[in-house]
Amino acid sequence: MSKQDQKTTDKVNQSWGGRFSESTDAFVQAFTASVQFDQRMYRQDIEGSRAHARMLNKVSVLSDDDLSLILSGLDQVEQEIESGKFEWSIALEDVHMNIEARLTAIIGDAGKRLHTGRSRNDQVATDIRLYLREQIEYVINEAKRLQQGMLLLAEKEADSIMPGFTHLQVAQPVTFGHHILAWFEMIARDVSRFEDCRQRMNMCPLGAAALAGTSYPIDREFTAKELGFTAPMANSLDAVSDRDFAIEFCSASAMLMTHMSRMSEELVIWSSAQFNFIDLPDRFCTGSSIMPQKKNPDVPELVRGKTGRVNGNLVSLLTLMKSQPLAYNKDNQEDKEPLFDTLDTVLGSLRAFADMIPAIKCKHANMYAAAKQGFSTATDLADYLVRKGLPFRDAHEVVGSAVAVGLEKELDLSELSLEELQGFSALITEDVFDVLTLEGSVAARNHIGGTAPEQVRKAVIEARKRV
Ligand code: ARG
Repeated sequence: MSKQDQKTTDKVNQSWGGRFSESTDAFVQAFTASVQFDQRMYRQDIEGSRAHARMLNKVSVLSDDDLSLILSGLDQVEQEIESGKFEWSIALEDVHMNIEARLTAIIGDAGKRLHTGRSRNDQVATDIRLYLREQIEYVINEAKRLQQGMLLLAEKEADSIMPGFTHLQVAQPVTFGHHILAWFEMIARDVSRFEDCRQRMNMCPLGAAALAGTSYPIDREFTAKELGFTAPMANSLDAVSDRDFAIEFCSASAMLMTHMSRMSEELVIWSSAQFNFIDLPDRFCTGSSIMPQKKNPDVPELVRGKTGRVNGNLVSLLTLMKSQPLAYNKDNQEDKEPLFDTLDTVLGSLRAFADMIPAIKCKHANMYAAAKQGFSTATDLADYLVRKGLPFRDAHEVVGSAVAVGLEKELDLSELSLEELQGFSALITEDVFDVLTLEGSVAARNHIGGTAPEQVRKAVIEARKRV
């Protein structure tokens, strides 16, 4: 085969092969291709092409006939892809060239005019933004569904008393509803990070072409508007090269997953035989093939584990971008897999949690008994003494001695007699038992952000307005 023949038989070289004297090495062709993973942006690629073609027509670079051929051809390509008839080709490298080649096969020369004033560099930057913009919407919706599930659970368990921990040691009693509302707030900030990222990302790279812009009289405001972007990106070099928006998304995702890993950890601990605070519905658990008694909290464990890959994807993208000179570099083709993997992982994890959280069943008696351990109302006794006139540091000291006696006798403070308690301070009277009970302790923390059941119910009402 002559070199000329090789060129014409190799499809890929029809796109950029003019200066080449031999066709791409077969391995290199597969190695450099991205169509296996970027084809998921086909709708955005077609949408971007429609907008670009309309703009070219508006500024009289593309004739009316060519425009209508391109638009109908793109419709056909889209249908072929959606019906599974489209043949993706590794030789055509990526989603952009696959679609353009098929378009040209359908409509002829007009298809070859579509790429006027455009490069795959601004095309791909546009596609990813469009794709991520849409997907962020799903992420936000799923996160809000999770938040709604949390509110249902928090409302139901507003009065349920459990131990609150610091250092994983019993600290003070809290209500379970209050604990779940802490989770709600973590997710609320994650949602706002996604919204923020979505807004900053929504700028249009089209028109930047390869890197320097184009000599055609293009109308960048028009394409930006057609595609629902806020505005064209201000600098063509920046437009084709930066992937900070993808990094931001992965960063917000890493934060979200990190939050969910903390929730997962608590669910795993709480559902263990040692804590036995909650029951996860069977449909979110699996058994063991050897130990018949086992019911494993797989969903939280997996979400905890998947946090690793999402955090890893963030580091991948940061490292991908680090030290890249302007403008576009092929390195950037590596942005997609970590980004898509992050999206899939986050959406799956949110979905599982949104289904599971409202179905959690509390084992109230066990939670209550655990809260009674560890002198969780010791601070309440100190506060009581302060209200009776003792300085806080002295009160702390008095209660410390009472706890020492309680430890020795294996009794909670509320189980010591009035006479015994009065032995520590003459300020103590019968009303001390109101503050030493778990109910009294949580009810006393009745201020914004406090654990009192009344506050939890109020906080749920306020939170409902936010989701
Ligand atoms: N598949 C490429 C990517 O994902 C598209 C842009 C390629 N541009 C180029 N000049 N090779 O980044």
